[in-house]
Amino acid sequence: MDVQFEHEKLKEWFLAEKRELPWRNNPDPYAVWISEVMLQQTQVAVVLPYFLRWMELFPTIPALASASLDEVIKAWEGLGYYSRARNLHEGARYLVAHFEGQLPSDEEQLAKIKGLGPYTIGAILSFAFHQKKAAVDGNVLRVLARYFQIEEDIAKASTVKKIRALTESFLPDEEPWIVGEALIELGATVCQRKAQCGECPLQAGCRSFRHGLVDQLPIKSRAAKTEHLYRAVAVIQSAGYFLVKRGKKGEIMSDLYEFPFFETARDGMTPQQLQRHINSQFGLSVKAGQSLPSVEHGFTRYQARLDPVIFACAHRLAVPDLEWLDVEALKQRAFSSGHRRIFQGLQALIDG
Ligand code: ADE
Repeated sequence: MDVQFEHEKLKEWFLAEKRELPWRNNPDPYAVWISEVMLQQTQVAVVLPYFLRWMELFPTIPALASASLDEVIKAWEGLGYYSRARNLHEGARYLVAHFEGQLPSDEEQLAKIKGLGPYTIGAILSFAFHQKKAAVDGNVLRVLARYFQIEEDIAKASTVKKIRALTESFLPDEEPWIVGEALIELGATVCQRKAQCGECPLQAGCRSFRHGLVDQLPIKSRAAKTEHLYRAVAVIQSAGYFLVKRGKKGEIMSDLYEFPFFETARDGMTPQQLQRHINSQFGLSVKAGQSLPSVEHGFTRYQARLDPVIFACAHRLAVPDLEWLDVEALKQRAFSSGHRRIFQGLQALIDG
């Protein structure tokens, strides 16, 4: 394919304007792997402190492999989409077992690692191993759908595949990885959803700009609609211990801690109704106390409203699937982000 693309202009712009980010400038493959997985669905500003802390906690693949899953999940706490952390951990163990703790530079071998898809594989091969490979994420799809006026649905795998092939056809032989990362940077900082065409080094060759279509492209079919959830959350305490549940394997919150809760209708339930639920379902005898402020919690396609109420319980009886932990132990555990905020509210109350 002979495609006209102004990669020289893009490269010049990138070298002058790029953000200094800790995973840039000759990164090692492990740093590319971690940063690119963190950057999926997550903004650079959010990722930065997580990335720096992660590299201190787990500086190498063997260090990550020898950490416990709980330590890894704790380091990810708040980033969401926790399967990413579990896959990194599993991937590190796989690499220690099969590749002496190093990432291979071969596409097929990389594809065998849990959680690595074409984007992350492209990024590792390009940014770390300097191969002529495309790393096509949402930023690059937006830039190229506009530049080449591609009026196909970018939510479709066939469109992504086509744009990946197109990218590899115009990447230069010399330093292709710089153009690859420049495409991401342009999408992240200039060719954003609301494009700043006045700042764009590619404006002259951009077909959508020429045809006044920048605001219409790319075309992306909508993801599943958000589902609202309403949850009455039981913060049950007994002499400094709290009853919590650890998400089971395969559940949406697997390995994360939450207070027990009951699904309700939109208007919630009263503390007395919640008290009856707790007593009948957990075989406890609790008394309702103070309500804590409601917390909004978005995860995957859900938007949950959490309505927490504190309950006092005289005896720490065992409840199937739940555990009693004291505050110090709870501080060490990774909570889902909604329940973490409930725990923070609770700590503020305890600390006065
Ligand atoms: N988003 C995804 N990958 C990125 C990268 N390498 N730099 C900046 N933003 C990104």
